[in-house]
Amino acid sequence: MKILTLLLIVIAMIFVLAACDNGTNSNDDSSGLIRVGFSQCDLTESDWRKANTASMQESLSESNGFSLTILDAQNDPDKQLADVRNLIQQGFDYIVIATVQEAGWETVLQQARDAEIPVILVDRLADVSEDLYVTWVGANFKGEGETAVRWLQNFRGSDVNAVHLQGVMGSSAQVGRTSSFLEGAAANGWTINASMTANWDTTQAMEIMQFWLEQFPEINVVYAENDNMAYGAIQAIEDAGLKAGGDDGITIISFDANRRFLQLAYDTGKINYNVECNPLHGPRVAQVIQALERGEILPKITYVDGESFDWRALTQEIIDSRQY
Ligand code: AHR
Repeated sequence: MKILTLLLIVIAMIFVLAACDNGTNSNDDSSGLIRVGFSQCDLTESDWRKANTASMQESLSESNGFSLTILDAQNDPDKQLADVRNLIQQGFDYIVIATVQEAGWETVLQQARDAEIPVILVDRLADVSEDLYVTWVGANFKGEGETAVRWLQNFRGSDVNAVHLQGVMGSSAQVGRTSSFLEGAAANGWTINASMTANWDTTQAMEIMQFWLEQFPEINVVYAENDNMAYGAIQAIEDAGLKAGGDDGITIISFDANRRFLQLAYDTGKINYNVECNPLHGPRVAQVIQALERGEILPKITYVDGESFDWRALTQEIIDSRQY
């Protein structure tokens, strides 16, 4: 009888200990999936951003071993900081961030490090010391701008009387593409009549361009830092009875090379040159996380490649082959 009582006590103790186990890793996911919290700068701001989000969802799927939670900062820097603090408190295994702006990240990324949650930056950078993030996956924005400047030099020489539509101020894409254009203008004696942010948005770009067309009747170049803003400028130009693109219209420079804007360039010539900024970061982020799970050390920067498209060289085959 005593043996039976002892056995029952031991079994009871085992159950009690199991129930008390608070786990050393608050990230324990009973499903065995890697829990990833993704802070996206704005889910709907541009065609590019929608493709970027879709790529992350496709790659960080449950069938690939991930549990992905996405928070939308709606291009509000303060909301994004609160979103990331939320992800830290929820104890995700990894936090991925596409920053609205590069500034303001030191404290919250320090909190992520204190919580021992690795941070991966995608698309946009953060102005912090490198030890606060594991790696950054994105495009070389300054290089994109330099590519556009070289094409414009070849196409127009010194005959550039431009206006400049910028992305969200302080975002890495805006910082890089703007700096290259300003440097190119200084080096080539180009005129930039005005630079202003249209926050990646078509409607804002159209309204700004309407004003500029009244102020600067001699405009012959629009340098738009993404397709959605280029499209707004084109609408304003045509509403004013002027020609956008082609050999003899206002030259339109754009970035992102979304399929529907390449199609516009191919069908109409309305975007003269488009520099790709590859949004398909999902596969690369999944590879990064799997490498980290294996304990591998990664480089701080992982560039994604991009092409660029002169409207005269486009073919329907090129456009049909585009993934986004
Ligand atoms: O950071 C990449 C930029 O962000 C894209 O060029 C733009 O469309 C998006 O909003």
